[in-house]
Amino acid sequence: MRKFVTTTAIAAVMVALGAGVSARAAENVEVLHWWTSGGEAAALDVLKKDLESKGITWTDMPVAGGGGTEAMTVLRARVTAGNAPTAVQMLGFDILDWAKEGALGNLDEVASKEGWDKVVPGALQQFSKYDGHWIAAPVNVHSTNWVWINKAALDKAGGKEPQNWDELIALLDNFKAQGITPVAHGGQPWQDATIFDAVVLSLGNDFYKKAFIDLDPETLGSDQMKEAFDRMTKLRSYVDDNFSGRDWNLASAMVIEDKAGLQFMGDWAKGEFLKAGKKPGTDFVCMRFPGTQGSVTFNSDQFAMFKVADDKVPAQLAMASAIESPVFQSAFNVVKGSVPARTDVPDTDFDDCGKKGIKDLAEANASGTLYGSMAHGHANPAAVKNAIYDVVTRQFNGELSSEEATKELVAAVEGAK
Ligand code: BGC
Repeated sequence: MRKFVTTTAIAAVMVALGAGVSARAAENVEVLHWWTSGGEAAALDVLKKDLESKGITWTDMPVAGGGGTEAMTVLRARVTAGNAPTAVQMLGFDILDWAKEGALGNLDEVASKEGWDKVVPGALQQFSKYDGHWIAAPVNVHSTNWVWINKAALDKAGGKEPQNWDELIALLDNFKAQGITPVAHGGQPWQDATIFDAVVLSLGNDFYKKAFIDLDPETLGSDQMKEAFDRMTKLRSYVDDNFSGRDWNLASAMVIEDKAGLQFMGDWAKGEFLKAGKKPGTDFVCMRFPGTQGSVTFNSDQFAMFKVADDKVPAQLAMASAIESPVFQSAFNVVKGSVPARTDVPDTDFDDCGKKGIKDLAEANASGTLYGSMAHGHANPAAVKNAIYDVVTRQFNGELSSEEATKELVAAVEGAK
């Protein structure tokens, strides 16, 4: 009898354990992302740990490559094979493209319970919702029109932040005279395009809007666009000989290690400075690209949630809920260099660059000078973005004159629309 009870008890425990194991297996998220640099990985860790504390395990699917081009290629292959990940880091128009294909799940239940409509800015909601339904959970807001300057080198040059193009060029000449590389840059299409975002914006808000948001052929083919390409040629003269193919975080490292004067890059660069123990205002200076003060070209990392098996949906919803929690939004974005994707998160824990980022975003939003970043998928669908990348990169590398690039830009955008 005793033996029987024991066996039954053991069997019961086995069943319970089995159930527990399968319940736990369902509480797993497989996440595809391109956050592989030091600063990015540190931020991602905040998310992993947050989920782990809620009993959700993490299966990591990293695909290196800034801007996410490579990650999007891998994603296409996964979905084609009928094996979509639970959640995918994604930018702007890519989210809408997947939604159109009917590949994304539905987060309405958690979004309405938690009132996301009221706290997520409209500029992000246009990419988090499709057909009135929530399909993605916004993690942050980054922006691309930033400059990251080595403070010691700036001090040596007189300490004044350049306010316009001429002052910027004077500063770069000074860096050259100091014997450092003036511009730390990685020659990859998305990095060239990131600089182009800022250069075009520095020639006027209307110009940026008409060129990249409206895709107005006249603006794309204008003398002003030729001027934008001329400026790219000028900036190209300040990069080092080994710039080609260099990853963005290695370019950040050049500024961090006093080898270069500055980097034009989105605020994910701040994550690298922080990871290296550098302090804003002491070791480095963050400022808007000269001539773009008061305007913001933004991009927002969102986790697009794919249609998954029913038993995986609870973990997916839990992940979405965790991402939108105000406490998480602060903790994550403090490390990542971005600012919260909600309007009700206090800036208390953010450093001066983060506080400036939050303020700039709110002001640009209020004054109508907040624009989607062309380089980071928030101005146009991928086909148009890639067509622009191609022309910008060929011009930056001297394959096209400014005049030729201006003409090609009109044709490339027209062909990709
Ligand atoms: C993403 C950032 C990322 C950067 C470099 C951008 O497109 O929005 O989160 O850090 O690419 O990888």
